[in-house]
Amino acid sequence: MELFLDTANMDEIRQGARLGVVRGVTTNPSLAAKEGIGKFEAYKSAVQEIAEMIDGPISVEVISSDVEGMITEGRDIVNWIPNPWVKLPSTIAGIEAMAVLTKDNIKVNQTLCFSVNQALLGAQAGATVVSPFVGRLDDVGHDGMQLVEDIASIFQRYNVKTKVMAASIRNSLHCVAAAKAGADISTVPFSVLMQMIKHPLTDAGQTRFLQDWQQASS
Ligand code: E4P
Repeated sequence: MELFLDTANMDEIRQGARLGVVRGVTTNPSLAAKEGIGKFEAYKSAVQEIAEMIDGPISVEVISSDVEGMITEGRDIVNWIPNPWVKLPSTIAGIEAMAVLTKDNIKVNQTLCFSVNQALLGAQAGATVVSPFVGRLDDVGHDGMQLVEDIASIFQRYNVKTKVMAASIRNSLHCVAAAKAGADISTVPFSVLMQMIKHPLTDAGQTRFLQDWQQASS
């Protein structure tokens, strides 16, 4: 399972890039707004800065809600960076725009996916990747990870090429569960990436190794 960073924060992306484990980045209007990015041109510059740090797909979400607007934005976004995935919502307009853009060989990340049926439709419309939102489903009392597992097993059974990206990840246990559920990718906040690395026994063991070595060599 590949790891993407789910952020528009440049420092986090820079640190993630240095680790050498981040294969892509996902952004959305809320993440951009959190960084004070509120204008389309500023979003474009931020995405271009991200693409200079990460040699992988960058998901860029459209901000239109009608089909024509999404198609126009999608066709513009693909000229911003070398490896764009246009992020389109799992709405009627989103699916229609998806079908048009994927015919132009534009890669699409189907976002805001909350059901197997939405994922099946996105796959038919040619989405490169579908993003089931785990945490937001858990928040309303549904089993978000079960959705990841259902989509992954159905896609495998029918040899569907669309990849499954576990999104709305809230903690490092979600990453383990997503990998077990068959997700191809998990997109994680920077804090979760840190949680994945840290373990108190590793820290204690490392301290002990260095203390023992110092004692033996003094
Ligand atoms: C995915 O691409 C989304 O940007 C993201 O995972 C949403 O997560 P949230 O529910 O934490 O906002």
